[in-house]
Amino acid sequence: RVAGPCVLVLFGVTGDLSRKKLLPAIYDLANRGLLPPGFSLVGFARRDWDHQDFRQIAYEAVKEHARTPFREDVWRHLAEGMHFVPGEFGDPGAFDALAMAVKELDETRGTGGNYAFYLSIPPKFFPQVVEQLQRSGLAEREPGSWRRVVVEKPFGHDLASAQELNDTVHRVFPEESIFRIDHYLGKETVQNILALRFANTMFEPIWNRSYVDHVQITMAEDIGIGGRAGYYDGIGAARDVIQNHLLQLLALIAMEEPTSFSAEAVRAEKAKILSSVRVPGDLHLATARGQYAAGWQGGVKVRGYLEEDGIPPDTRTETYAAIKLEIDNRRWAGVPFYLRTGKRLSRRVTEVALVFQQAPHLPFSHTDTEELSENTLVMRVQPDEGITLRFGSKVPGTSMEIRDVNMDFAYGESFTESSPEAYERLLLDVLIGDPPLFPRQEEVELSWKVLDPIEEYWAAHGELEQYKSGGYGPESADELMARDGRAWRRL
Ligand code: BG6
Repeated sequence: RVAGPCVLVLFGVTGDLSRKKLLPAIYDLANRGLLPPGFSLVGFARRDWDHQDFRQIAYEAVKEHARTPFREDVWRHLAEGMHFVPGEFGDPGAFDALAMAVKELDETRGTGGNYAFYLSIPPKFFPQVVEQLQRSGLAEREPGSWRRVVVEKPFGHDLASAQELNDTVHRVFPEESIFRIDHYLGKETVQNILALRFANTMFEPIWNRSYVDHVQITMAEDIGIGGRAGYYDGIGAARDVIQNHLLQLLALIAMEEPTSFSAEAVRAEKAKILSSVRVPGDLHLATARGQYAAGWQGGVKVRGYLEEDGIPPDTRTETYAAIKLEIDNRRWAGVPFYLRTGKRLSRRVTEVALVFQQAPHLPFSHTDTEELSENTLVMRVQPDEGITLRFGSKVPGTSMEIRDVNMDFAYGESFTESSPEAYERLLLDVLIGDPPLFPRQEEVELSWKVLDPIEEYWAAHGELEQYKSGGYGPESADELMARDGRAWRRL
Protein backbone atom coordinates (compact mmCIF):
# COMPACT_ATOMS: atom_id res chain seq x y z
CA ARG A 1 0.00 0.00 0.00
CA VAL A 2 1.70 3.16 -1.23
CA ALA A 3 0.03 6.56 -1.35
CA GLY A 4 -0.37 8.30 -4.70
CA PRO A 5 0.91 11.83 -5.44
CA CYS A 6 -0.51 14.44 -3.05
CA VAL A 7 -0.01 17.42 -0.80
CA LEU A 8 -0.66 17.23 2.93
CA VAL A 9 -1.49 20.62 4.42
CA LEU A 10 -0.97 20.68 8.15
CA PHE A 11 -2.84 23.35 10.11
CA GLY A 12 -1.52 23.83 13.64
CA VAL A 13 1.95 22.72 12.73
CA THR A 14 3.43 24.44 15.81
CA GLY A 15 1.38 22.30 18.21
CA ASP A 16 2.45 19.40 20.38
CA LEU A 17 0.70 16.79 18.26
CA SER A 18 2.58 17.87 15.13
CA ARG A 19 5.92 17.83 16.84
CA LYS A 20 5.52 14.58 18.76
CA LYS A 21 3.39 12.50 16.41
CA LEU A 22 2.56 13.87 12.97
CA LEU A 23 5.93 15.10 11.67
CA PRO A 24 7.77 12.01 12.99
CA ALA A 25 5.09 9.74 11.48
CA ILE A 26 5.47 11.42 8.08
CA TYR A 27 9.22 10.85 8.24
CA ASP A 28 8.71 7.21 9.26
CA LEU A 29 6.38 6.67 6.31
CA ALA A 30 8.99 8.20 4.01
CA ASN A 31 11.65 6.00 5.55
CA ARG A 32 9.55 2.89 4.93
CA GLY A 33 9.15 3.96 1.29
CA LEU A 34 5.39 4.45 1.62
CA LEU A 35 5.16 8.04 0.40
CA PRO A 36 5.12 8.90 -3.31
CA PRO A 37 8.26 10.59 -4.68
CA GLY A 38 6.60 14.00 -5.15
CA PHE A 39 4.91 13.98 -1.73
CA SER A 40 4.73 17.52 -0.38
CA LEU A 41 3.98 18.84 3.07
CA VAL A 42 2.76 22.36 3.65
CA GLY A 43 2.77 23.77 7.18
CA PHE A 44 0.32 26.54 8.01
CA ALA A 45 0.44 28.45 11.29
CA ARG A 46 0.46 31.87 12.88
CA ARG A 47 4.23 32.13 12.91
CA ASP A 48 6.68 34.33 11.18
CA TRP A 49 8.57 31.40 9.67
CA ASP A 50 10.01 30.72 6.25
CA HIS A 51 10.40 27.28 4.60
CA GLN A 52 13.78 26.85 6.21
CA ASP A 53 12.48 27.51 9.74
CA PHE A 54 9.73 24.96 9.17
CA ARG A 55 12.21 22.37 7.95
CA GLN A 56 14.42 23.00 10.97
CA ILE A 57 11.51 22.55 13.41
CA ALA A 58 10.45 19.38 11.59
CA TYR A 59 14.03 18.12 11.62
CA GLU A 60 14.22 18.50 15.40
CA ALA A 61 10.85 16.77 15.83
CA VAL A 62 11.96 13.88 13.64
CA LYS A 63 15.30 13.53 15.38
CA GLU A 64 13.59 13.41 18.76
CA HIS A 65 10.45 11.39 18.08
CA ALA A 66 10.72 9.31 14.89
CA ARG A 67 10.54 5.55 15.36
CA THR A 68 12.74 4.52 12.48
CA PRO A 69 16.48 5.28 12.26
CA PHE A 70 17.48 8.68 10.90
CA ARG A 71 18.70 8.55 7.31
CA GLU A 72 20.11 11.72 5.85
CA ASP A 73 19.03 10.92 2.27
CA VAL A 74 15.43 10.19 3.28
CA TRP A 75 15.26 13.37 5.31
CA ARG A 76 16.76 15.52 2.55
CA HIS A 77 14.31 14.17 0.03
CA LEU A 78 11.36 14.80 2.37
CA ALA A 79 12.59 18.28 3.34
CA GLU A 80 12.75 19.35 -0.34
CA GLY A 81 8.98 18.95 -0.45
CA MET A 82 8.31 20.91 2.76
CA HIS A 83 6.91 24.42 2.56
CA PHE A 84 5.49 26.90 4.99
CA VAL A 85 2.69 29.41 4.64
CA PRO A 86 2.29 31.87 7.52
CA GLY A 87 -1.13 33.18 8.42
CA GLU A 88 -4.12 33.55 10.68
CA PHE A 89 -6.94 31.01 10.37
CA GLY A 90 -9.42 33.68 9.28
CA ASP A 91 -7.14 35.62 6.93
CA PRO A 92 -8.27 35.44 3.27
CA GLY A 93 -4.85 36.63 2.04
CA ALA A 94 -3.10 33.76 3.78
CA PHE A 95 -5.46 31.20 2.23
CA ASP A 96 -4.96 32.72 -1.21
CA ALA A 97 -1.23 32.33 -0.65
CA LEU A 98 -1.84 28.73 0.41
CA ALA A 99 -3.88 28.07 -2.72
CA MET A 100 -1.05 29.43 -4.85
CA ALA A 101 1.52 27.38 -2.97
CA VAL A 102 -0.27 24.06 -3.52
CA LYS A 103 -0.95 24.83 -7.20
CA GLU A 104 2.73 25.48 -7.64
CA LEU A 105 3.51 22.13 -6.01
CA ASP A 106 1.17 20.43 -8.47
CA GLU A 107 3.30 21.86 -11.25
CA THR A 108 6.75 21.46 -9.78
CA ARG A 109 6.28 18.15 -7.95
CA GLY A 110 3.46 16.45 -9.81
CA THR A 111 1.06 16.24 -6.85
CA GLY A 112 -1.90 16.08 -9.21
CA GLY A 113 -4.30 18.43 -7.39
CA ASN A 114 -4.77 15.92 -4.54
CA TYR A 115 -4.89 17.67 -1.18
CA ALA A 116 -5.44 16.48 2.39
CA PHE A 117 -6.08 19.20 4.98
CA TYR A 118 -5.18 18.13 8.48
CA LEU A 119 -6.87 20.32 11.11
CA SER A 120 -4.65 19.82 14.14
CA ILE A 121 -6.19 22.91 15.72
CA PRO A 122 -8.76 23.66 18.45
CA PRO A 123 -12.29 23.08 17.09
CA LYS A 124 -13.24 26.71 17.70
CA PHE A 125 -11.16 27.53 14.60
CA PHE A 126 -12.85 24.92 12.38
CA PRO A 127 -15.57 27.25 11.05
CA GLN A 128 -13.02 29.87 9.96
CA VAL A 129 -10.65 27.40 8.34
CA VAL A 130 -13.38 25.47 6.56
CA GLU A 131 -14.90 28.71 5.28
CA GLN A 132 -11.53 29.94 4.02
CA LEU A 133 -10.83 26.63 2.32
CA GLN A 134 -14.09 27.04 0.47
CA ARG A 135 -13.67 30.73 -0.34
CA SER A 136 -10.15 30.28 -1.69
CA GLY A 137 -11.28 27.42 -3.94
CA LEU A 138 -9.07 24.95 -2.08
CA ALA A 139 -11.99 22.72 -1.16
CA GLU A 140 -13.11 22.36 -4.75
CA ARG A 141 -11.60 19.49 -6.66
CA GLU A 142 -10.87 19.15 -10.32
CA PRO A 143 -12.26 15.98 -11.91
CA GLY A 144 -9.92 13.05 -11.21
CA SER A 145 -8.38 14.57 -8.10
CA TRP A 146 -9.40 14.43 -4.44
CA ARG A 147 -9.80 16.60 -1.36
CA ARG A 148 -9.83 15.17 2.16
CA VAL A 149 -10.10 16.82 5.52
CA VAL A 150 -8.72 15.28 8.70
CA VAL A 151 -10.09 16.32 12.07
CA GLU A 152 -8.76 15.57 15.51
CA LYS A 153 -10.82 15.17 18.63
CA PRO A 154 -12.46 16.68 20.60
CA PHE A 155 -15.42 16.22 18.27
CA GLY A 156 -17.52 18.55 20.40
CA HIS A 157 -18.14 18.37 24.13
CA ASP A 158 -21.65 16.93 23.93
CA LEU A 159 -24.10 15.72 21.32
CA ALA A 160 -25.35 19.19 20.35
CA SER A 161 -21.88 20.67 19.86
CA ALA A 162 -20.73 17.56 17.95
CA GLN A 163 -23.66 17.93 15.57
CA GLU A 164 -22.85 21.60 15.14
CA LEU A 165 -19.23 20.77 14.37
CA ASN A 166 -20.27 18.13 11.87
CA ASP A 167 -22.63 20.60 10.20
CA THR A 168 -19.81 23.12 9.91
CA VAL A 169 -17.50 20.69 8.16
CA HIS A 170 -20.32 19.22 6.04
CA ARG A 171 -21.14 22.62 4.64
CA VAL A 172 -17.98 22.26 2.58
CA PHE A 173 -16.86 18.62 2.66
CA PRO A 174 -19.04 15.54 2.12
CA GLU A 175 -18.95 12.85 4.83
CA GLU A 176 -16.83 10.51 2.68
CA SER A 177 -14.07 13.15 2.53
CA ILE A 178 -13.94 13.58 6.32
CA PHE A 179 -11.40 11.52 8.24
CA ARG A 180 -11.92 11.76 12.02
CA ILE A 181 -8.89 10.60 13.93
CA ASP A 182 -9.26 8.34 16.93
CA HIS A 183 -5.66 7.29 17.27
CA TYR A 184 -6.60 4.17 19.27
CA LEU A 185 -7.98 2.67 16.07
CA GLY A 186 -4.53 3.06 14.52
CA LYS A 187 -2.95 0.84 17.17
CA GLU A 188 -2.02 -2.68 16.06
CA THR A 189 -3.38 -4.23 19.23
CA VAL A 190 -6.75 -2.55 18.76
CA GLN A 191 -7.02 -3.76 15.17
CA ASN A 192 -6.09 -7.19 16.43
CA ILE A 193 -9.32 -7.39 18.46
CA LEU A 194 -11.23 -8.02 15.25
CA ALA A 195 -8.59 -10.47 14.02
CA LEU A 196 -8.79 -12.42 17.28
CA ARG A 197 -12.55 -12.56 17.14
CA PHE A 198 -13.18 -13.17 13.48
CA ALA A 199 -10.09 -14.98 12.17
CA ASN A 200 -10.48 -17.77 14.74
CA THR A 201 -13.17 -20.23 15.69
CA MET A 202 -12.50 -20.95 19.34
CA PHE A 203 -13.41 -17.61 20.87
CA GLU A 204 -16.72 -16.86 19.20
CA PRO A 205 -18.77 -19.65 20.88
CA ILE A 206 -17.96 -18.28 24.34
CA TRP A 207 -18.08 -14.56 23.41
CA ASN A 208 -21.51 -13.91 24.89
CA ARG A 209 -23.71 -13.73 27.99
CA SER A 210 -23.74 -17.51 28.45
CA TYR A 211 -20.04 -17.53 29.33
CA VAL A 212 -18.87 -13.97 29.95
CA ASP A 213 -19.52 -12.67 33.46
CA HIS A 214 -18.42 -9.10 32.72
CA VAL A 215 -15.97 -7.03 30.69
CA GLN A 216 -13.41 -4.55 32.02
CA ILE A 217 -11.93 -1.86 29.80
CA THR A 218 -9.07 0.00 31.44
CA MET A 219 -6.98 2.91 30.25
CA ALA A 220 -4.67 3.91 33.08
CA GLU A 221 -1.98 6.53 32.71
CA ASP A 222 0.85 7.41 35.04
CA ILE A 223 1.26 10.92 33.60
CA GLY A 224 -0.63 13.98 34.80
CA ILE A 225 -2.08 16.62 32.50
CA GLY A 226 1.34 18.08 31.71
CA GLY A 227 1.05 21.42 29.95
CA ARG A 228 -2.48 20.76 28.70
CA ALA A 229 -4.49 22.62 31.37
CA GLY A 230 -6.17 24.81 28.75
CA TYR A 231 -7.49 21.80 26.86
CA TYR A 232 -8.19 19.44 29.74
CA ASP A 233 -9.92 21.54 32.35
CA GLY A 234 -13.66 21.59 31.75
CA ILE A 235 -13.28 18.49 29.56
CA GLY A 236 -12.16 15.82 32.02
CA ALA A 237 -11.36 12.15 31.74
CA ALA A 238 -14.70 10.93 30.39
CA ARG A 239 -14.91 13.39 27.50
CA ASP A 240 -11.19 13.13 26.83
CA VAL A 241 -10.97 9.38 26.39
CA ILE A 242 -14.15 7.46 27.27
CA GLN A 243 -16.30 9.17 24.62
CA ASN A 244 -13.82 8.14 21.95
CA HIS A 245 -11.08 5.60 22.73
CA LEU A 246 -12.90 3.47 25.32
CA LEU A 247 -16.26 3.40 23.57
CA GLN A 248 -14.49 2.45 20.36
CA LEU A 249 -12.83 -0.42 22.24
CA LEU A 250 -16.21 -1.44 23.61
CA ALA A 251 -17.67 -1.39 20.10
CA LEU A 252 -14.91 -3.63 18.73
CA ILE A 253 -15.30 -6.09 21.59
CA ALA A 254 -19.08 -6.25 21.47
CA MET A 255 -20.03 -5.79 17.81
CA GLU A 256 -21.26 -8.53 15.49
CA GLU A 257 -19.15 -9.81 12.61
CA PRO A 258 -19.25 -7.30 9.74
CA THR A 259 -20.29 -8.64 6.36
CA SER A 260 -16.89 -7.54 5.01
CA PHE A 261 -14.02 -5.34 6.07
CA SER A 262 -15.25 -2.44 4.01
CA ALA A 263 -15.56 0.87 5.82
CA GLU A 264 -19.33 0.81 5.46
CA ALA A 265 -19.74 -2.69 6.88
CA VAL A 266 -17.40 -2.19 9.86
CA ARG A 267 -18.81 1.20 10.75
CA ALA A 268 -22.39 -0.07 10.44
CA GLU A 269 -21.73 -2.80 13.02
CA LYS A 270 -20.03 -0.36 15.35
CA ALA A 271 -22.94 2.06 15.07
CA LYS A 272 -25.38 -0.75 15.75
CA ILE A 273 -23.67 -1.79 18.97
CA LEU A 274 -23.20 1.80 20.15
CA SER A 275 -26.90 2.38 19.71
CA SER A 276 -27.58 -0.65 21.95
CA VAL A 277 -25.49 0.68 24.83
CA ARG A 278 -27.63 1.43 27.86
CA VAL A 279 -26.65 3.84 30.60
CA PRO A 280 -27.92 2.50 33.94
CA GLY A 281 -30.61 4.55 35.65
CA ASP A 282 -28.88 4.61 39.03
CA LEU A 283 -25.90 6.74 38.06
CA HIS A 284 -24.89 7.36 41.67
CA LEU A 285 -24.22 3.60 41.90
CA ALA A 286 -22.93 3.06 38.38
CA THR A 287 -20.29 5.80 38.10
CA ALA A 288 -17.32 7.15 40.07
CA ARG A 289 -15.13 10.20 39.61
CA GLY A 290 -11.93 11.49 41.07
CA GLN A 291 -9.19 14.08 40.91
CA TYR A 292 -5.56 13.25 41.56
CA ALA A 293 -4.08 14.67 44.71
CA ALA A 294 -0.39 15.21 45.33
CA GLY A 295 1.66 12.09 45.85
CA TRP A 296 4.70 10.13 44.75
CA GLN A 297 5.19 8.63 41.37
CA GLY A 298 8.24 6.62 40.39
CA GLY A 299 10.14 8.13 43.34
CA VAL A 300 9.25 11.69 42.32
CA LYS A 301 6.96 13.97 44.28
CA VAL A 302 4.14 15.20 42.05
CA ARG A 303 1.51 17.92 42.39
CA GLY A 304 -2.20 17.39 42.67
CA TYR A 305 -4.52 18.38 39.84
CA LEU A 306 -5.69 21.51 41.67
CA GLU A 307 -2.08 22.68 42.05
CA GLU A 308 -1.22 22.23 38.36
CA ASP A 309 -0.38 25.40 36.41
CA GLY A 310 -3.42 26.98 34.84
CA ILE A 311 -6.00 24.94 36.79
CA PRO A 312 -8.59 26.97 38.75
CA PRO A 313 -8.48 25.87 42.40
CA ASP A 314 -12.22 25.22 42.54
CA THR A 315 -12.55 23.24 39.31
CA ARG A 316 -14.84 20.19 39.26
CA THR A 317 -13.13 18.51 36.30
CA GLU A 318 -12.39 14.82 36.86
CA THR A 319 -9.07 13.16 36.05
CA TYR A 320 -10.48 9.69 36.77
CA ALA A 321 -13.79 8.22 35.70
CA ALA A 322 -15.37 4.79 36.01
CA ILE A 323 -18.66 3.91 34.37
CA LYS A 324 -20.74 0.77 34.24
CA LEU A 325 -22.64 0.25 30.99
CA GLU A 326 -24.91 -2.44 29.68
CA ILE A 327 -25.73 -3.56 26.17
CA ASP A 328 -29.29 -4.29 25.24
CA ASN A 329 -29.04 -7.12 22.77
CA ARG A 330 -29.27 -10.89 22.74
CA ARG A 331 -25.52 -11.47 22.94
CA TRP A 332 -24.82 -9.20 25.90
CA ALA A 333 -28.02 -8.69 27.90
CA GLY A 334 -27.13 -8.63 31.60
CA VAL A 335 -23.34 -8.51 31.08
CA PRO A 336 -21.90 -5.33 32.59
CA PHE A 337 -19.13 -3.50 30.77
CA TYR A 338 -17.01 -1.57 33.27
CA LEU A 339 -14.93 1.25 31.81
CA ARG A 340 -12.29 3.14 33.77
CA THR A 341 -9.62 5.66 32.98
CA GLY A 342 -7.44 7.92 35.03
CA LYS A 343 -4.30 10.00 35.12
CA ARG A 344 -1.50 9.72 37.69
CA LEU A 345 -2.26 6.10 38.48
CA SER A 346 0.34 3.55 39.53
CA ARG A 347 1.27 2.58 35.99
CA ARG A 348 0.44 3.00 32.33
CA VAL A 349 -1.71 0.20 31.01
CA THR A 350 -4.54 -0.10 28.51
CA GLU A 351 -6.28 -3.45 28.35
CA VAL A 352 -9.58 -5.14 27.72
CA ALA A 353 -10.44 -8.13 29.90
CA LEU A 354 -13.24 -10.60 29.33
CA VAL A 355 -13.89 -12.21 32.69
CA PHE A 356 -15.70 -15.52 32.36
CA GLN A 357 -18.19 -17.07 34.73
CA GLN A 358 -16.87 -19.48 37.33
CA ALA A 359 -17.29 -23.21 36.83
CA PRO A 360 -20.76 -24.11 38.12
CA HIS A 361 -19.39 -26.93 40.23
CA LEU A 362 -15.91 -28.04 41.33
CA PRO A 363 -15.43 -31.79 41.86
CA PHE A 364 -12.07 -31.37 43.66
CA SER A 365 -12.41 -31.72 47.40
CA HIS A 366 -9.13 -30.00 48.33
CA THR A 367 -9.52 -26.89 46.27
CA ASP A 368 -10.53 -23.65 47.85
CA THR A 369 -12.81 -21.99 45.29
CA GLU A 370 -12.11 -18.63 46.90
CA GLU A 371 -8.55 -18.92 45.68
CA LEU A 372 -9.53 -19.42 42.08
CA SER A 373 -9.99 -16.25 40.12
CA GLU A 374 -12.27 -16.36 37.12
CA ASN A 375 -11.01 -17.45 33.71
CA THR A 376 -9.94 -14.27 31.97
CA LEU A 377 -8.92 -13.29 28.48
CA VAL A 378 -6.86 -10.11 28.55
CA MET A 379 -6.08 -8.14 25.42
CA ARG A 380 -3.17 -5.89 26.32
CA VAL A 381 -3.33 -2.81 24.12
CA GLN A 382 -0.21 -1.29 25.70
CA PRO A 383 2.45 -1.64 26.94
CA ASP A 384 3.65 -5.30 26.76
CA GLU A 385 1.34 -5.70 23.78
CA GLY A 386 -0.19 -9.13 23.61
CA ILE A 387 -2.90 -11.44 24.88
CA THR A 388 -3.08 -13.46 28.08
CA LEU A 389 -5.44 -16.29 28.90
CA ARG A 390 -5.78 -16.99 32.60
CA PHE A 391 -7.14 -20.29 33.85
CA GLY A 392 -6.86 -22.79 36.71
CA SER A 393 -4.33 -25.60 36.52
CA LYS A 394 -3.30 -28.52 38.72
CA VAL A 395 -0.35 -27.70 40.94
CA PRO A 396 2.24 -30.46 40.48
CA GLY A 397 2.14 -32.82 43.43
CA THR A 398 0.20 -35.65 44.95
CA SER A 399 -2.99 -33.76 45.65
CA MET A 400 -5.51 -32.13 43.33
CA GLU A 401 -4.74 -28.54 44.12
CA ILE A 402 -5.73 -25.96 41.49
CA ARG A 403 -4.01 -22.65 40.93
CA ASP A 404 -4.38 -19.89 38.33
CA VAL A 405 -1.79 -19.76 35.55
CA ASN A 406 -1.25 -17.55 32.49
CA MET A 407 -0.85 -18.48 28.85
CA ASP A 408 0.76 -15.64 27.02
CA PHE A 409 1.15 -14.26 23.52
CA ALA A 410 3.60 -11.35 23.26
CA TYR A 411 4.03 -9.40 20.04
CA GLY A 412 7.77 -9.07 20.59
CA GLU A 413 8.20 -12.85 20.79
CA SER A 414 5.89 -13.92 17.97
CA PHE A 415 6.55 -11.28 15.32
CA THR A 416 9.74 -9.86 13.93
CA GLU A 417 7.80 -7.15 12.10
CA SER A 418 7.74 -3.85 13.98
CA SER A 419 4.39 -2.16 14.60
CA PRO A 420 3.89 1.17 12.86
CA GLU A 421 2.99 3.98 15.23
CA ALA A 422 -0.79 4.64 15.24
CA TYR A 423 -0.44 7.98 13.47
CA GLU A 424 1.73 6.44 10.78
CA ARG A 425 -0.97 3.95 9.92
CA LEU A 426 -3.74 6.54 10.04
CA LEU A 427 -1.88 9.16 8.00
CA LEU A 428 -1.17 6.59 5.33
CA ASP A 429 -4.84 5.59 5.27
CA VAL A 430 -5.82 9.25 4.79
CA LEU A 431 -3.42 9.65 1.87
CA ILE A 432 -4.59 6.39 0.31
CA GLY A 433 -8.24 7.20 1.04
CA ASP A 434 -8.95 4.09 3.09
CA PRO A 435 -11.61 4.91 5.71
CA PRO A 436 -12.42 1.82 7.90
CA LEU A 437 -10.27 3.02 10.80
CA PHE A 438 -11.97 6.42 11.05
CA PRO A 439 -15.19 6.84 13.05
CA ARG A 440 -17.99 8.29 11.04
CA GLN A 441 -20.34 11.00 12.22
CA GLU A 442 -22.97 8.55 13.46
CA GLU A 443 -20.53 6.77 15.81
CA VAL A 444 -19.35 10.07 17.26
CA GLU A 445 -22.90 11.19 17.91
CA LEU A 446 -23.95 7.83 19.39
CA SER A 447 -20.99 7.98 21.76
CA TRP A 448 -22.08 11.41 22.96
CA LYS A 449 -25.57 10.03 23.50
CA VAL A 450 -24.05 7.53 25.91
CA LEU A 451 -21.97 10.13 27.73
CA ASP A 452 -24.35 13.10 27.84
CA PRO A 453 -26.68 11.79 30.59
CA ILE A 454 -23.66 10.82 32.68
CA GLU A 455 -22.05 14.24 32.30
CA GLU A 456 -25.37 15.89 33.14
CA TYR A 457 -25.70 13.75 36.24
CA TRP A 458 -22.16 14.59 37.31
CA ALA A 459 -22.67 18.30 36.70
CA ALA A 460 -25.70 18.24 39.01
CA HIS A 461 -24.71 15.73 41.70
CA GLY A 462 -21.35 14.18 40.95
CA GLU A 463 -19.18 13.38 43.91
CA LEU A 464 -15.54 14.09 43.18
CA GLU A 465 -13.11 12.13 45.29
CA GLN A 466 -9.45 13.02 45.67
CA TYR A 467 -7.15 10.05 44.99
CA LYS A 468 -3.48 9.78 45.67
CA SER A 469 -1.11 10.15 42.73
CA GLY A 470 0.74 6.93 42.03
CA GLY A 471 -2.10 4.84 43.46
CA TYR A 472 -5.06 2.89 42.13
CA GLY A 473 -7.70 5.59 41.79
CA PRO A 474 -10.61 6.62 43.99
CA GLU A 475 -12.14 4.22 46.50
CA SER A 476 -15.57 4.97 45.10
CA ALA A 477 -14.51 3.15 41.92
CA ASP A 478 -13.64 0.06 43.95
CA GLU A 479 -16.96 0.34 45.77
CA LEU A 480 -18.78 0.47 42.44
CA MET A 481 -17.35 -2.96 41.63
CA ALA A 482 -17.75 -4.32 45.15
CA ARG A 483 -21.49 -3.53 45.07
CA ASP A 484 -21.72 -5.95 42.15
CA GLY A 485 -19.60 -8.55 43.97
CA ARG A 486 -16.69 -7.96 41.60
CA ALA A 487 -13.28 -6.30 41.66
CA TRP A 488 -11.13 -4.39 39.18
CA ARG A 489 -8.14 -6.21 37.82
CA ARG A 490 -5.01 -5.06 39.63
CA LEU A 491 -3.21 -2.14 38.02
C1 BG6 B 1 -5.33 11.29 24.07
C2 BG6 B 1 -5.80 12.03 25.31
O1 BG6 B 1 -6.38 11.11 23.19
O2 BG6 B 1 -4.79 10.04 24.44
C3 BG6 B 1 -4.69 12.15 26.32
O3 BG6 B 1 -6.27 13.32 24.95
C4 BG6 B 1 -4.05 10.81 26.59
O4 BG6 B 1 -5.17 12.74 27.53
C5 BG6 B 1 -3.67 10.12 25.28
O5 BG6 B 1 -2.89 11.01 27.39
C6 BG6 B 1 -3.14 8.72 25.52
O6 BG6 B 1 -2.72 8.14 24.33
P1 BG6 B 1 -1.82 6.84 24.33
O7 BG6 B 1 -1.69 6.47 22.91
O8 BG6 B 1 -0.53 7.23 25.00
O9 BG6 B 1 -2.56 5.82 25.15
